[in-house]
Amino acid sequence: ASTLGASAAQSGRYFGAAVAAGHLSDSAYVATWDREFNSVTPENEMKWDSTEPSRGAFSFGNADRIVSHAQGQGMKIRGHTLVWHAQLPGWVQNLSSASDVRTAMNNHINGVMNHYKGNIYAWDVVNEAFADGGAVGTLRSSVFQQRIGNGFIEEAFRTARAADPAAKLCYNDYNIDDANANKTRGVYNMVRDFKARGVPIDCVGLQSHFGNPPSNYQQNIAQFAALGVDVQITELDVGGSGSAQADAYRRVVEACTAVPRCTGITVWGITDKYSWRSGDTPLLFDGNYNKKPAYTSVLNALNGG
Ligand code: G3I
Repeated sequence: ASTLGASAAQSGRYFGAAVAAGHLSDSAYVATWDREFNSVTPENEMKWDSTEPSRGAFSFGNADRIVSHAQGQGMKIRGHTLVWHAQLPGWVQNLSSASDVRTAMNNHINGVMNHYKGNIYAWDVVNEAFADGGAVGTLRSSVFQQRIGNGFIEEAFRTARAADPAAKLCYNDYNIDDANANKTRGVYNMVRDFKARGVPIDCVGLQSHFGNPPSNYQQNIAQFAALGVDVQITELDVGGSGSAQADAYRRVVEACTAVPRCTGITVWGITDKYSWRSGDTPLLFDGNYNKKPAYTSVLNALNGG
């Protein structure tokens, strides 16, 4: 097939992009999104600071603009993200009792998921909860971890399942791409424990912000999938340019398509001109929406090489 989305669909997968509401007035941006992608993740618009900036006051305007456009195009929508330590309004960070944080967290999950009930393919229920260093399984300090304790992750997933039983529930993180890294092992152990105890979890999101994908990336995808969850590549971008970048992108796509339960890939933006990695050129389209060598290698890999 001749577009990313249609090529991924040949094997039942999706190929998505992160989209920002602030760029919807850029007609080339929207045209490229519509032509090439069959899934979207709102880049910032579903985060806590956007959707519940003050307690109990929900606002969905920018997220709704992305969702309604995507629905008009028949795209899948990934919800990002319900419980995260960043882009978290001050009122949440200042809550001081366990019961207050628990109530706020569950109320937020219910408020956002109910608004989009039935319309979201997969939610990043909890994002980036694991620490970058320390012993295997160490969680990052956050108001959730500090006040509720490590069980906040399980509680969030249980609340999310009840709120929208049709949505796949994902745990999403960065630096869990290397099969043997301590951080990866911590997430792996959590997912294995959740599956063993019947805590609802359906997918692991590998953000995959790369310089170079690790050589055991496919093995890592396969080891998560073997736990009985889908794996989604959720925020892919690769620094650099030219053939080295194209080759890295190819290896990522091949690693996903080699594992049946790797169900889709999302790149973290459409064009280099709006990438969060300022000063780098990590995406598939250049600043003028021209296809880069990385685009061609991804397209070819999705079409079986
Ligand atoms: O919306 C305000 C705007 O009103 C203000 O004038 C402007 C001035 O700085 O800031 C705007 O907010 C920015 C927002 O992006 C929207 O553009 C924030 O400062 C900026 O921090 C924010 O960055 C986002 C970042 O998450 C925040 O953590 C990036 O766009 C977004 O790509 C990035 O995405 C994260 C994923 O959610 C999780 N994984 C890592 C990934 C990359 O950091």
